[in-house]
Amino acid sequence: MKAHTISTLIPEQELKERIAQIAGQISSDYAGGKVKLLCVLKGGVFFACELAKLITVPVTIDFMQISSYGSGTMSSKKAVIRKEPDDVLEGQNVIVVEDIVDTGYTLAALKEYLESKKPESVKTCVLLDKPDRREADVCADYRGFEIPNVFVVGFGLDYDGQYRNLPYVGALDFDGITA
Ligand code: IMP
Ligand code: MG
Repeated sequence: MKAHTISTLIPEQELKERIAQIAGQISSDYAGGKVKLLCVLKGGVFFACELAKLITVPVTIDFMQISSYGSGTMSSKKAVIRKEPDDVLEGQNVIVVEDIVDTGYTLAALKEYLESKKPESVKTCVLLDKPDRREADVCADYRGFEIPNVFVVGFGLDYDGQYRNLPYVGALDFDGITA
């Protein structure tokens, strides 16, 4: 692991307040109904748990995992489903919960996969959005924060498996150069 430092980009309190707003929005959008939060492992776990605690309509939670790999060029990135959801999604109001949308390939692949499961509806909810890096034509329905093109860790996001447990979002800095 290269030498690095971490500087706070989004403090814990700001995350908390924004997540409460999103949970409020979801609760009113689905008033009278129920939602299934489909948490994308591993990064989405922290965000999904905080959201789930604050949503006031009935909530169920399921998990899936997906990895995307470049195959030659970035524009032909392929996503592989590593873990399928356990629950039946047909007829459900599914909300995909992800840590971040970067190039957008992961979210695009998730939406395509989920449509084949015939849910009643699918929406996407991401904590962070890096619009400068977008290659696939996707945008999240619920979005916590727009951030610049920096590598971030914390609140579920990792660098080499580490730092997911930081209670804030930090920018990784290698030798004074922000990644
Ligand atoms: P996308 O397919 O390029 O949108 O990739 C999204 C995935 O890349 C996320 O689910 C993260 O796992 C990972 N990722 C993208 N940017 C960052 C970052 O700044 N820090 C940590 N992981 C990231
Ligand atoms: Mg991820």
